[in-house]
Amino acid sequence: HPINWNIKTYQTLASTQDTLKAMIVSGEAEEGTLIHALEQTSGYGRHGRKWKSASGNLSFSFMLSPQVSLAQKSTLSLIAGIALTHAIQSILALQSVDDIILKWPNDIMLNGEKCAGILLENIEDHLIIGIGVNISCAPIEGSTCLFENQKKPPITKEALLDRFLTEFGDLYPVWIEKGFCGFKSDYMRLSYKKGTNVCVKLPSNNIEGLFHGVDEDGSMLILCKDTKKLQKITAGEVFFV
Ligand code: BTN
Repeated sequence: HPINWNIKTYQTLASTQDTLKAMIVSGEAEEGTLIHALEQTSGYGRHGRKWKSASGNLSFSFMLSPQVSLAQKSTLSLIAGIALTHAIQSILALQSVDDIILKWPNDIMLNGEKCAGILLENIEDHLIIGIGVNISCAPIEGSTCLFENQKKPPITKEALLDRFLTEFGDLYPVWIEKGFCGFKSDYMRLSYKKGTNVCVKLPSNNIEGLFHGVDEDGSMLILCKDTKKLQKITAGEVFFV
């Protein structure tokens, strides 16, 4: 299942996610269609949050149509997280920065602050993966970027995009065949460690405990402080405490 990438670059879009959705609805997109915007004016992230995409940062969305179960589909964002972490690591290695980790489900943290985010949406049986990487500026409080205070980052956004597509393209066929299960140990190598204190914010309550890794279906396991039992989290927001 090699992906045939078809990259369309625009100067300014409201949101690459919305442009791609509209193209899917009108039948103009196919597997591998990738919308890249140099600037976005109304980017959005998970939990309905705004995603500010200043120029200099990388913003793109692409479409895939894997013929797999719904449960498996939801794990594709974790695969994108692995590929993006590898891509960023390989680029930062040139700068000898290595403190880059995945925060479940797929935030990428650089020295404890978020530098990239991934959004997975389902539309008409297709998947849209949206990725934002802060390359040269951190537009939201508490976030960071790969190359702070450098007028000219040592990499272009195209180089990072290219690196990501190579990494993702290698993992995707394996994921189609085997699902997330075979990537559990890769994910854990890149993730923060078992035993880290976390708090998970759920719609109705918060759970505190120790991070216990990811399950074969991509959900997160937490050892609850109160019940002393392992609990599976399929959706929620994680904070370090
Ligand atoms: C998150 O961490 O909440 C996910 C952020 C995803 C942002 C990207 S930028 C490209 C694409 N277009 C959007 O409007 N959002 C995603």
